Amino acid sequence: MKDHQRTKNLVLAAMLVAILVILGLLPGIPLGIIPVPLVLQNMGVMLAGGLLGSKYGTAAVGLFLLLVFLGLPLLSGGRGGATVFLGPSGGYLIAWLFVPFLIGRLKRLFQVRAQHSWWHELLIVGVAGVIFVDVVGALWLAWQSSIPLSTALVSNLVFIPGDLLKAILAVVITRRIRNLMQLEVEY
Ligand code: BTN
Repeated sequence: MKDHQRTKNLVLAAMLVAILVILGLLPGIPLGIIPVPLVLQNMGVMLAGGLLGSKYGTAAVGLFLLLVFLGLPLLSGGRGGATVFLGPSGGYLIAWLFVPFLIGRLKRLFQVRAQHSWWHELLIVGVAGVIFVDVVGALWLAWQSSIPLSTALVSNLVFIPGDLLKAILAVVITRRIRNLMQLEVEY
């Protein structure tokens, strides 16, 4: 990778951490039927995968989660600290770390290139950023809250419409920025 491309990626990774922080300023919406809020930060994680690929995307999300782990109140509603990883939403947070890697690997596997239609990208972001995260989140939630897995999975369905909307937005934004900044993303 050329030096200027590496610099671009580092700047973009720092911007993605800032975007995750900004999205966290919006308070999560409690849904009642599940002890996990509706948030916008998972869209930032999808953006990290699309704009930065596996390596830099994982670094950006990893840095953000590390700051949360260390106690910075960066999650929606100003939460942070190691205990949130052990709470009901711990599974989603851990899953976020793998989203850029999965997006990158799936794009490589199916050779989805920038010029392909946005449907290809949406499918991949949908699998990695929505289905994977919600399933891992539900698995952890079931174990952590001692509820049946089927109940955890079914209650997670409440997130699907919003998460799909975020996936669409993430793909549209990714494609715009990639073109504008002429990014060569290494998936
Ligand atoms: C936290 O702030 O404690 C993490 C919240 C995790 C929320 C998950 S991410 C996938 C799903 N979609 C949402 O809007 N909320 C959940």
